[in-house]
Amino acid sequence: MSSPFAGKRVILGITGGIAAYKVADWVRALVGEGAVVTVVMTKAAAQFVTPLTFAALSGQPVAGDLFAAAGAETIPHIKLARDCDLLVIAPATANTVARLAHGLADDLLAAVVLATRAQVAVFPAMNSQMLAHPATQDNLARLAALGYLVVEPGCGPLACGAEGPGRLPDWPAARTWLAAALTEQDLAGQVLLVTAGPTQEPLDPVRFLSNRSTGKMGYALAQAARQRGARVILVSGPSALPPPVGVELLRVRTALEMREAVLAHYQAASAIVMSAAVSDFRPQAAAGHKLKKSAPGAELLELVANPDILKELGERKGADPLPLLVGFAAESDRHLEEGRRKLAAKNLNLLVVNDIRRPDAGFAADTNQVTILAQGAEPEVLPLLSKEETAHRLLDRLRRLW
Ligand code: C5P
Repeated sequence: MSSPFAGKRVILGITGGIAAYKVADWVRALVGEGAVVTVVMTKAAAQFVTPLTFAALSGQPVAGDLFAAAGAETIPHIKLARDCDLLVIAPATANTVARLAHGLADDLLAAVVLATRAQVAVFPAMNSQMLAHPATQDNLARLAALGYLVVEPGCGPLACGAEGPGRLPDWPAARTWLAAALTEQDLAGQVLLVTAGPTQEPLDPVRFLSNRSTGKMGYALAQAARQRGARVILVSGPSALPPPVGVELLRVRTALEMREAVLAHYQAASAIVMSAAVSDFRPQAAAGHKLKKSAPGAELLELVANPDILKELGERKGADPLPLLVGFAAESDRHLEEGRRKLAAKNLNLLVVNDIRRPDAGFAADTNQVTILAQGAEPEVLPLLSKEETAHRLLDRLRRLW
């Protein structure tokens, strides 16, 4: 699965809010992913950012005039509405939300919204009071009832100086919603529990044992599954990555905390993917104060084994068909042989093996090269792919098993 935007015809409707400038980023990113973007601006939007900016970024003339047609065969709103895979309105002001909720067609953008059969995604962005007003809330509910995707605005400092809900999301968050709108929801109804990142095992208040996992593979899986319609519970060890939009994020620190979080949600899941790099050992006791290097025996670490969460899940599952269990194994020697052993020992449906000797696979890399092992099946050797793409391939495999 390449970018969900590749080759898609996206109309980006910009209305007159200060957040209009942020959408310049979206246009760049969409074009970068292969979308053909046509920008339609309302009169008020052109007061905030010039159409020239968007024409340059999209590589297409900006449309704005309902009456710009030269002939019947080029009636602009009908042509735009027909040649469109996704219509995005961002920022959507309170005024435009009201116009759309009532089916007005008083400018080019509103007319295109009425004329198109494409999915319409609305990103309201405005002052918190305007957003909270019952009239605006009624109008937004009406848009949702009409089948438009209404994306809840973010919370934070607003251009008017106030703080609160009303912010236009940044591109990474917006991307998740738009990608989902263009993606077949083939995992709808499934519940995926994903673990990601390292664990940290404290020695004292300032020191811990951990590993080089960044969480990239698990976060990519969570995001890809969400994009395809699954409900996703992401149990994450400490990670610097931004949380994927639309997933239920549970942050944990230690292996014991991860075990607790996983067991609390185990029964709701139709698949559990343990991509976390769980520490095998933890210091026998975490000191309550910073350990002194001069203390007797300070150079010795006494460790105890952490529970193997996945093995425990495999034992609980026994011969039940669900939840599907998926393990990850980072191996540097005889990786397939070791993988086969773990697949059987932990009673897993799939085991994803990566050979961490490769610099372009494994910890912190954006790409991965994995082999998927399943009981009674030939190993599926995937090529070097982005972690996002690897995630989709693994989800394809799960879908076939479900
Ligand atoms: O046996 P090994 O640690 O190589 O197995 C790796 C798989 O087991 C990974 O999916 C990892 O998330 C999981 N694991 C676990 N609990 C542990 C150690 C590993 O669930 N204590």
